[in-house]
Parts: sequence; C-alpha cells; structure tokens
Amino acid sequence: MTEITIRQACPDDAFLLAPLLNSTQEPHFHTTAERLRAAMQKEDAVKYLLAERAGQLLGSVSLSFPDFHPQHVWLRFALHPDHRAGREAAGLFQKAGALAQGRPFAWTSVRADYLSTQPDLPALGFHEVHRTFGGGFYLDAPPASRQRLEDDLAQHGIRITPAAGFQGDPRLETLYQTVKQDKATAEPTIPAANDLLNDPESLWDAAFVALRGAEALGLVLPERARLGAWNAVLLVRQDMRRQGIGTALQARACAALWTQGVTFLNTAGVKTDRAYLGVLRQLGANIEPDWIAYEAVMA
Ligand SMILES: CC(C)(COP(=O)(O)OP(=O)(O)OC[C@H]1O[C@@H](n2cnc3c(N)ncnc32)[C@H](O)[C@@H]1OP(=O)(O)O)[C@@H](O)C(=O)NCCC(=O)NCCS
Repeated sequence: MTEITIRQACPDDAFLLAPLLNSTQEPHFHTTAERLRAAMQKEDAVKYLLAERAGQLLGSVSLSFPDFHPQHVWLRFALHPDHRAGREAAGLFQKAGALAQGRPFAWTSVRADYLSTQPDLPALGFHEVHRTFGGGFYLDAPPASRQRLEDDLAQHGIRITPAAGFQGDPRLETLYQTVKQDKATAEPTIPAANDLLNDPESLWDAAFVALRGAEALGLVLPERARLGAWNAVLLVRQDMRRQGIGTALQARACAALWTQGVTFLNTAGVKTDRAYLGVLRQLGANIEPDWIAYEAVMA
C-alpha cells in the first residue's frame, strides 16, 4: 500500500481541510474554505500538518503557539472518520515535534461529546490534566427567582444594589483583593482572577454589590464579550457564603443584562467548582459537556 506522507498545509488545502476540521469540532468553531484560506495567509497563522495517502487527505493536526502558555504547543487533531484508529495521528504528532519551536509540552483540549472524533490520545502519550465547563444563560427572560432571593436576604439586612457608584470604593477593592484568590483555576483554560478589578471591558451597568449596612459582602461584575457578555467576576466574602448571596447577585446581573437586550451571558469554570456550578444551576444556566484538557511531552 502507498505510504502515508505528512506535509505542512498551504492555503490551497483549505477547500478539503475546512470540512475535515468542521467534522471534528463544535458548530461554534465551524469555518468555510474561504475563511480558513484567509486565516492561513496571515503572518502568525495557525500551522496545519496534513497526513495524505495517494493525494487523499486522511487527517491533520493544527499547531498554535500562544504567548500566555510559553511551554506548550497547542495541538488539535482532525482525523478522517476512517483513519482515527490508524497510524496517521502518531505520524502527525511526531512530525509536529519538529515544528514545536523548542516548546517541551503539547496540549490539546476536547469537549467530551467530541472525544469519538479524536485519535486514541493516551496511546499517543497524552494524559488528562483537568476538566472545565462552558455554557451560560440564554437571557430570554429575567430569572423568575430574583425577587424571592433578594427578599430572603433582606430579612437578614442584606441588600443587592448597583455597583456602578462603588467603582474605586476601597470597600469593593478590599473585598476583591481578599477573595479573588479563591477562584478555582485550571490553567490555561480558566486563568487566575485579574490582579485588579477595573478591566476596561467591565460592564458596570450590570454590576451589583451585596451590602449589609456599609459592609460589602459580594460582587458580580460581567464583562463585554464577543458573543454578548462574559461572567467575569462573581464573589462572596468567605464568612458570608452559602446563604444565597452569590445566587441573588447572579440573578440580578442576568436580569440587568436582559433589560439591556443582551441575549447570552457566557460562563466557564472548573468542573470541580461545586459552588459556582451550584449558583449557575440554581438559576437554570445551560452547562455544556466538559472540556477535557490533555498534556503530553512533545515528541
Ligand atoms: C461561587 C460563590 C460566589 C458562591 O457564593 P455563595 O453566596 O456561597 O452561593 P449560594 O449561597 O448562592 O449557593 C448557591 C448554591 O451553590 C451550591 N454551593 C455553594 N457553595 C457550595 C459549596 N461550598 N459546596 C457545594 N455546593 C455549594 C449549593 O447548591 C448552593 O445552594 P444551597 O446552599 O441551597 O444548597 C462563592 O463560593 C465564591 O465567592 N467563590 C470564590 C470566587 C469564585 O470562584 N467565583 C466563581 C468564578 S468567577
């Protein structure tokens, strides 16, 4: 049988590569040959290696080199359905080593319901490092429980109020600095909280603070994002948790965004973060299947 050859892709390969990529990725990432061709012509473009036999495309692996993760090459395998269990993936991975620019590790991330489109990652030397979740709120109505949650808190002297007037207020800064390290992280998918509260993309019009008297107990602060808004900050002071404050803050932010006509609030977190997931589930967020992150030593 003719040997498998591996070569670097060029923009003319986009026509066949685009449907192969689309068949192994969530609809959110689907592309067209035209868009892929244009992306491949950019200076810092993602590189693609192709596995072929007798001119037929059997599979590919993409390589990208994010600055914020300098020890890792990010790989994404896309194999033809008839060639997922074959030698193509091993050949692609080995060849990727030569293009790794000295980065010692490989990283790949797969949503659980797309695992069947992937080669046998453990057989290639990958091991699972963590799971994260994505999803969010479809904002077609304000959360039904919002008022009840706030009435319950009011009985304990806690009120949820717009945070816009508290920008730069030392109470909010102190709260943020005290609690930000509690955010569950899974580098690089879920990075540590920002050092400072004031991100230029922050949506202060949909931000709320929980107050008891003059004390700041919790904060929700969304950010602008490509698909609407992003649930950037949600935190409650350690000694005030598990009393419904986080859920009430989140409900209020969802209601405000809905009023502003935002249709989706993106969320993401670490799969083991039961507190955050608890808040999201109580309010009916749509949580997608896990993203599984794998690491390997570069071949
Ligand atoms: C996430 C966070 C804001 C939740 O605030 P909270 O006020 O404690 O949340 P609530 O009291 O509204 O909890 C809502 C539900 O979440 C779940 N939950 C909350 N904390 C939990 C915990 N420690 N373990 C398991 N489930 C938990 C429960 O189902 C709870 O409902 P219940 O108490 O009726 O059972 C808070 O834990 C926090 O500040 N964490 C650090 C910052 C962070 O990680 N933010 C999220 C990412 S931006």
